[in-house]
Amino acid sequence: MIEPRPVIAAMAAYALPDTTAPEGVEPVILAQNEHAFAPTAAVRAAVDAALASGQLYPDSEWTNLRAAIAAVHDLDPARILCGCGSMELMSALVNAYIGAGDRVAMTEYGYLFMRTLVKMVDAGLNVAPERDFQVDVDALLDAVDADTRLVFVVNPGNPSGTVIANDEIRRLRRALTDDVLLLVDEAYSEFVEPGFNAPLFDLVDAGNTVITRTFSKIYGLAGLRVGWGYFPPEMIVNLRKVMTPGGLSQLSQAAAAAAMRDQQTASRARAEIARLRELLSRGIAALGLRVIPSQTNFVLVDLNSPERAAAAYDFLRSRGLIVRPMGGYGLPHCLRISIAEEPHMRATVDALAAWQA
Ligand SMILES: Cc1ncc(COP(=O)(O)O)c(C=O)c1O
Repeated sequence: MIEPRPVIAAMAAYALPDTTAPEGVEPVILAQNEHAFAPTAAVRAAVDAALASGQLYPDSEWTNLRAAIAAVHDLDPARILCGCGSMELMSALVNAYIGAGDRVAMTEYGYLFMRTLVKMVDAGLNVAPERDFQVDVDALLDAVDADTRLVFVVNPGNPSGTVIANDEIRRLRRALTDDVLLLVDEAYSEFVEPGFNAPLFDLVDAGNTVITRTFSKIYGLAGLRVGWGYFPPEMIVNLRKVMTPGGLSQLSQAAAAAAMRDQQTASRARAEIARLRELLSRGIAALGLRVIPSQTNFVLVDLNSPERAAAAYDFLRSRGLIVRPMGGYGLPHCLRISIAEEPHMRATVDALAAWQA
């Protein structure tokens, strides 16, 4: 039997959560930070229209989608890359730019998928501590050494839900040398209160900074797998070499373009998610549990011990409420709960209250 490369044989696959409920119980998935609301009629109509030419390969230049993103964010379409989720873009970036012996610096609770990518290319990881679930730029700078080629930050953080002020990211960039790439994963940035963080796209124009975003969160298209990023032009040429040509289906492109053009729906979703997050956070805090203040579509709850977290997880699951255990992040005493529609949020608070009782 043919053997995989030794680094692949030695690594574990990126772990997705178990989303099954006990037999006979209808599961409510609060484990994957999916959107609370289904796609709009306009998005579904766009998919339907795209299906009419389903016999053709998709537009490998993402022309319509890039135009929609560029118009909303006032960007140069030529610097936008679209992929099958921002995961594909991160994967391409690591594959094209990071190799054996290189090191990647990230923070303690940064998105776990980066750890998988680093292992895949046999690179090393330098992990900086966070301070009470908040990224500490000085600690991250301390984690950068002579072999570091990439610094990875997630803003807002997953699973912390906390925001780094973009001024701090600018300070981070200024302190890094030009040969170190900075990747800012902004998968949840659209949930942040408007005006809190002025956009960072100008850093990309200066080179050596990359920003990725997604349609999986506030635009509610996780199942269609669309991510995008803003890149320096030289990087686009090299990233496209390692991406699957025509990988993003025409249906996904059409859905994402329609969702991007409907900023009103996105704004309404932001406000509604904030309201539901507040409802959940207050309900859980009233039970005497610590909820880390979040500006995303999820909250991290501290159950004080791994045993209590495991027991609360089991109790919630027995009621069909599937939340995310956090052992993989080194936080076995915590659970992460995605924001969903109001009845599910109330059911979660009620279940935690019943468990406490
Ligand atoms: C921090 C972070 N980045 C990226 C992603 C992946 O997003 P996509 O669906 O665009 O691949 C996720 C998904 O949960 C995430 O939490």
